[in-house]
Amino acid sequence: MGIQLTDYEQDMLSGKNGPGVQLAMTIVVRMAEVLQAPELLAVSQAHIDGCGLMSDSGLEFAEKMAGLGARVSVPTTLNMIPLDLQNWRKQGVPEEFGLKATRMAQAYIDMGCIPTWTCAPYQGYLAPAYGQQIAWGESNAIVYANSVFGARTNRYADYMDICAAITGRVPKHGLHLKENRKGQVLIRLVDIDPVLFTEDTFYPVFGYLLGQLVQDKIPVVVGLEAQINSDQFKAMGAAAASSGAVALIHIVGLTPEAPTQEEAFQGAEPEEIIELHMIDLLAAREELSIAPTHGGKLDAVVLGCPHFSYMEFQTLLKHIRQANKPLPEGVRLIILTNQLSMALLERGGMLDEITGFGAELIIDSCVFHSPIVGSGAKVIMTNSGKCAYYAPGELNTQVVFGDMEDCIRSAMLGEITRKEDAWKSA
Ligand code: F3S
Repeated sequence: MGIQLTDYEQDMLSGKNGPGVQLAMTIVVRMAEVLQAPELLAVSQAHIDGCGLMSDSGLEFAEKMAGLGARVSVPTTLNMIPLDLQNWRKQGVPEEFGLKATRMAQAYIDMGCIPTWTCAPYQGYLAPAYGQQIAWGESNAIVYANSVFGARTNRYADYMDICAAITGRVPKHGLHLKENRKGQVLIRLVDIDPVLFTEDTFYPVFGYLLGQLVQDKIPVVVGLEAQINSDQFKAMGAAAASSGAVALIHIVGLTPEAPTQEEAFQGAEPEEIIELHMIDLLAAREELSIAPTHGGKLDAVVLGCPHFSYMEFQTLLKHIRQANKPLPEGVRLIILTNQLSMALLERGGMLDEITGFGAELIIDSCVFHSPIVGSGAKVIMTNSGKCAYYAPGELNTQVVFGDMEDCIRSAMLGEITRKEDAWKSA
């Protein structure tokens, strides 16, 4: 099937706008052919995940595009990169890798992208509007954009994301179209004490379970009657997009495309109905830990997956003040964050207290793309469902999942401890 192109799109394809744009357009059109999309669709914003150095070919591609004069045509933010740009030498990142990652970062800046370097772009810069057509990479950000803002994006892969940003075009396909955004699986939360919904720790667990159950389908959740804040939704979406390939979650009464169950399904019947009880959530929570949840030695705590927000730093400060003394030697507290949170932290007067406690703040980066944790760590603890899901395979560590308070108390003790009250009372 031929793709219907406008004159402007045809010009891009024929090279009238330069060889960089032509190459990007060739890739977008080829993708549209593969997807059997009838035409292309204009997007007005992009978020690039492909800026992390995954391979030499990724660097070659970025430098080639930048060298051909390709520039983004829509506002485009950048995901994390595999090093803390300010501190990578101090952190022991190998010189050759560090230089390549820095070149990669520069190539994306040269193409006109905004150096946000964060996997939580929605918490600080250029949040998209309801119904806005966008092209985002980074799975947790995609869920957030689709579900919370009601913006429209597919799960864009590395390199397709920058081609969309350069051309301002994507195949007219998938979640860009209203009819493909209707719910598929009804998830009913049954007999769950609403107190649990007020706990941060509920959201990564529920997200992890949701992803496992629905995989790449669109869930419609009923029975989750709570005011979910931005950090809670971030944690839930990140976990759901890790254990599954979730890109959009409707929560009836809460998310913009789900004022009612009927509207979330666009009048159709659910393909499947799943009831979730407390026992299912408890089992999911246990699955997120592969080391004993009480008593074992702890090497490091990892927070900020996705990147830590200012509000999360405020919560952390409460726990630090409760601890009332610095972190003991032998346990690391690693916090992944971005420049925006750092600037606010400094401005809010909290930075010295947090670093004085002994926290290591890693800016712009991620433990899964940079040798931050190191081979010395055998057991880590995290409050992130996404981090707990990936750590055993990617970091080769044992992992325990707990809430932020559990993480700090365990770090102070040097051994794992976890309170169970929020889950027991529910
Ligand atoms: Fe962000 Fe890395 Fe977690 S990119 S979401 S900190 S896995």
